[in-house]
Amino acid sequence: ADEPLVLGIETSCDETGVGIVRGHTLLADAVASSVDEHARYGGVVPEVASRAHLEAMVPTIQRALKQAGVSARDLDGIAVTAGPGLAGALLVGVSAAKAYAYALGKPLYGVNHLASHICVDQLEHGALPEPTMALLVSGGHSSLLLAPDITSDVRPLGATIDDAAGEAFDKVARVLGLGFPGGPVIDRYAREGDPEAIAFPRGLSGGRDPIYDFSFSGLKTAVARWVEARRRDGQDVPVADVAASFQEAVVDVLTRKAVRACRDNGVDHLMIGGGVAANSRLRALAEQRCTDAGIRLRVPRPGLCTDNGAMVAALGAEMVARGRAASTLDLPADSSLPV
Ligand code: KG4
Ligand code: ZN
Repeated sequence: ADEPLVLGIETSCDETGVGIVRGHTLLADAVASSVDEHARYGGVVPEVASRAHLEAMVPTIQRALKQAGVSARDLDGIAVTAGPGLAGALLVGVSAAKAYAYALGKPLYGVNHLASHICVDQLEHGALPEPTMALLVSGGHSSLLLAPDITSDVRPLGATIDDAAGEAFDKVARVLGLGFPGGPVIDRYAREGDPEAIAFPRGLSGGRDPIYDFSFSGLKTAVARWVEARRRDGQDVPVADVAASFQEAVVDVLTRKAVRACRDNGVDHLMIGGGVAANSRLRALAEQRCTDAGIRLRVPRPGLCTDNGAMVAALGAEMVARGRAASTLDLPADSSLPV
């Protein structure tokens, strides 16, 4: 029981997440989401998110402590997402973490949101090998990251040059009138559709530079144009086929580039995280292509892929275990914090 007991707070977007871990063991994962409040706007409204975090923060911390059955006095540290994310939303979590750390006399650890999306897999599949290769796909990012050390050295190999993968799912869902967030609904419709019904473009997949970057804005526009043309001609829109064909275009490019990044860098495993990692077709195609390439795939369960506090606690625990320096109480919330 000398593994570090850490509480983690996540407020970078619309989920107020508080998790508690002991080393690689998940003890509590409490999440309060304001997603329903944003649905009518078709996207996350920063001011609404900040206010919701403020209201949910203390009750969610209390719920997590109760779930874990531990006393705040026994914590070895308090970790918090310092960025990147929505400035006002981050500020609520960072302020709360500082207040608890100061009041309890515990060390504070500011962590990077992207690194914590990777580290969370330790709660599911045990210690991550080093270096770790990760494909992070969410509403805010689509990145390929090579991490020689998850606590201190995470290198971006490539990223989206326009829309994030999740953003593309959300925008296409809006075009199809399926509501927000779009990912889970498109995933569901796509199961009934034909992924080869419509040949949508695969951005930046010519195999030339930038090899590891992504582009989804052209795809989104192509889907919108295709759907508009059908409507203009008074024809029905085959929602399941559009969803399946769009989804296939996204996951084809994601998995192809991720496998290539592993090969090029001599890494024999791939971690996939972020909200889009919950996508069933992404999981299936990644499994198939990784198996073909002799790469071991690690994908945490969907509940750990979307934003949560456990991932922050997991990275905080890793920092404590490795004796990394704690943050000072003037830790800033940095909306564009680089990895
Ligand atoms: O990681 P996350 O919870 O929050 C961000 O940091 O963005 O990811 C949310 C994103 C949304 O764009 C949502 O549409 C997408 O993940 N998403 C999915 C699925 N579930 C959530 N995208 C595709 N398929 C899914 N099953
Ligand atoms: Zn995220």
